[in-house]
Amino acid sequence: MRSFSAYTLLFCLVAAPMLEARQPVRARHGMVVSRETHATDAGAAVLESGGNAIDAAVAVGLALAVTHPSAGNLGGGGFMLIRFADGRSTFIDFRERGTKSATRDMYLDKNGKPTQDSTEGYRASGIPGTIAGMALAREKYGKKSWKELVEPAIKLASNGFPVSYGLANTLRNNQKLSRFPESKRIFQRDGKYYEMGEVFQQPDLAATLTRIRDNGPREFYEGKTAQMLAADMKAHGGEITLEDLKNYKAIERKPLEGKYKEYGIVTAPPPSSGGLGILQMMSVLEGTGYEKSGAGSAQTLHMEAEAMRRYFADRSEYLGDPDFFKVPSKQLLNPKYIEKLRGSIDPVKATPSSEVKPGNLSVYESMETTHYSIVDSEGNAVAVTYTLNGGYGSGVTATGLGFLLNNEMDDFAVKPGEANMFGLIQGEANAIAPNKTPLSSMTPTIITKDGKVYLVVGSPGGPTIINAVLQVILNVLDFNMNVQEAVDHTRIHHQWMPDTLSIEKTASPDTIEMLKQRGYQVRVTAGIGEVAAIRVGDGFLEGAADGRVEATAKGY
Ligand code: DON
Repeated sequence: MRSFSAYTLLFCLVAAPMLEARQPVRARHGMVVSRETHATDAGAAVLESGGNAIDAAVAVGLALAVTHPSAGNLGGGGFMLIRFADGRSTFIDFRERGTKSATRDMYLDKNGKPTQDSTEGYRASGIPGTIAGMALAREKYGKKSWKELVEPAIKLASNGFPVSYGLANTLRNNQKLSRFPESKRIFQRDGKYYEMGEVFQQPDLAATLTRIRDNGPREFYEGKTAQMLAADMKAHGGEITLEDLKNYKAIERKPLEGKYKEYGIVTAPPPSSGGLGILQMMSVLEGTGYEKSGAGSAQTLHMEAEAMRRYFADRSEYLGDPDFFKVPSKQLLNPKYIEKLRGSIDPVKATPSSEVKPGNLSVYESMETTHYSIVDSEGNAVAVTYTLNGGYGSGVTATGLGFLLNNEMDDFAVKPGEANMFGLIQGEANAIAPNKTPLSSMTPTIITKDGKVYLVVGSPGGPTIINAVLQVILNVLDFNMNVQEAVDHTRIHHQWMPDTLSIEKTASPDTIEMLKQRGYQVRVTAGIGEVAAIRVGDGFLEGAADGRVEATAKGY
């Protein structure tokens, strides 16, 4: 028998480039990365049968509404960023909006204190936008018929699919679902939790989707579905009326664009707070040489955290729905201002957030949203982040319709100056008003190189979204990681207030210790964000699903 020899060693070294990190999924023509395997498959099948990335995005969005009900939705909203092969780009804002009845103080009690109503129950929902957004995307930019794209979701709802380990856990652990009888009826089987491997069928949702397929997307806003939803709202003291539904419109906006080194950045404009964050933080870091300290080093994390702290301070004051508030985007990205921000960073020590701007402390809990990324064989790229806001939204399933409703109203500043459920402090710019869109952190982003799509990225995670997206981009652009390694790598999060640096538990104890010595309040956490990313390589696509969750990548 040959022992371990120079020959073996040579073989290992030759093989080493493939062994240096976890490898992404590679394919030549098209790629889908999403949070749930049946939805990923549905999108890949659309690509393979001649649909473009926009078609696939519609099919994945509707399928996730069935198979990933904590965040995938018909009763919520989100953002779709598209970068076309010819270099154009667009941004579809299908986020929930305030109802006609919405008022600034609608969630304050007699003593001016915030109630629970913005986070749970019938009053927590803004007008849902998902169907309008998907329909607009397909009508303007898709190739396939609406019917064809709704079909996979109908099949998954009516035939059912085996419940995964993760889904079984979240169905069991979500308190809100048990508090609403219709949600209990749908998301439990005869009062018992679904176990992993059991088949989960959703006949009510299948019927709703079938009407949406046959009558078209307006069914959701004007048809029987709209009538049932409005009646259910009325019966339970909810805010959404038939008129609100009829008047809902998805809005097409111009994406934000910027540059970093030799790369172009195409990202989410307000009412997302994420794109400005990515552009400001990357500009603050560019030219500092921070990357020389290496990925994951205390020095690199320090520089990233200080950029984060400063952006989130600005976010608290200057961000809101641009149709209601003039967001000073130019000033936030002005080179002189960036220089000032950069100059205010101590190269060694943490700056206490109270010195950056005053605020209060609060805790944020773990939530759910979902992001998926798609690239097709023509070179079109789509990045979608959509949500019910909290995991399983408001906890309310619309009676007889089979879908959950969002609690997105909590993304407004329910009481300007006080922390929301993510601990975010927000100001007048994001106060509640009718038909206004609550400020979001969702940050679908596309990086280009030599005028072509290079990296497609996005994440759920409330405010951590912006920082998770930032770090994955930096990992690829500055630290030369393959896209899977970039997604897997340990992440941090700082949001100015609370003045805490969150770091994933995969960080080494000595890094954590060094950060503490620099003055950070360090909080070790399980997972920050769930990034779905695609890198366009030379002649092939690389899909990276996030190993923190049950996400999958599939190409052809
Ligand atoms: O739009 C936002 O910023 C939030 N509604 C997103 C919520 C979220 O990401 C929860 N996630 N894991």
